[in-house]
Amino acid sequence: MPCPGVALSENLLSLSRLSHPIGVFDSGLGGLTVLAALRARLPGEDFIYFADTHFLPYGEKPEAFIRARGERIAQALVARGAKAIVVACNTATAVAAEPIRAAVAVPVVALEPAVKPAAALTRSGVIGVLATTRTLESERYRRLVRTHAESVRVVSQPCPGLAEAIETDGPRSARVEALLDAYVQPLAAAGADVVVLGCTHYPWVRAGIAARLPAGVAIVDTGEAVARQVERRLQGESQLGGHGQLQLATSGNPLQVRETVARLWGAPLAVEAWSI
Ligand code: DGL
Repeated sequence: MPCPGVALSENLLSLSRLSHPIGVFDSGLGGLTVLAALRARLPGEDFIYFADTHFLPYGEKPEAFIRARGERIAQALVARGAKAIVVACNTATAVAAEPIRAAVAVPVVALEPAVKPAAALTRSGVIGVLATTRTLESERYRRLVRTHAESVRVVSQPCPGLAEAIETDGPRSARVEALLDAYVQPLAAAGADVVVLGCTHYPWVRAGIAARLPAGVAIVDTGEAVARQVERRLQGESQLGGHGQLQLATSGNPLQVRETVARLWGAPLAVEAWSI
């Protein structure tokens, strides 16, 4: 049973550092690609980023598990003062966007693979989508394709192991290279001229993906679109404003996560341990 006094003083401490941050989360550090777009568009905002590293990857886990984690993390971020939540994870959005919205009383912005802009952009009539198994098998993804890409051929390529390999071995590791060989080749062979990065980890390996595709193939992700949507939502509710601060937390080992953040983000940032 949590002690209310302790919870209150923790909250006051967080609030004194970040008055009304935007809470952002992912299964791990893929969502940092979304956070970068958010910070570029909204440099005056405060952010708390939570990496659920202890449970990485989400991509092959049961839907009920991902849903429970999403609800719990969103509630924890709100308890620490978050004025809005960004679900910086396609997999969590695919299976849990609505339950997460229902679990908190602040605006929730979720993201999904950029199938709609890709279908508008293709000239060959073939688009490729790289994402986790859980995302591609979700009803939400099927609906997205039915609604926005009915007139084009969509090659949906699940990428088991890729998000985890990017974090644990690094974006240029031999394991990542081998997985990219296996996952990108079918899209090139099918003649896709637009490739959607349907997992927030994949922008970290954009160069490796581009190198395996013919010149001129467009690669699209959703970071900037999400940042614009967050700006619109908060502007509409007169809630923009902060001090440009950033706080990172994880359910995993904070020292290890700090090292991975330094490698991917290019700067060492402090990482707190949260047991949620
Ligand atoms: N980064 C996540 C996504 O956008 C999930 C990767 C994973 O945990 O499998 O789907």
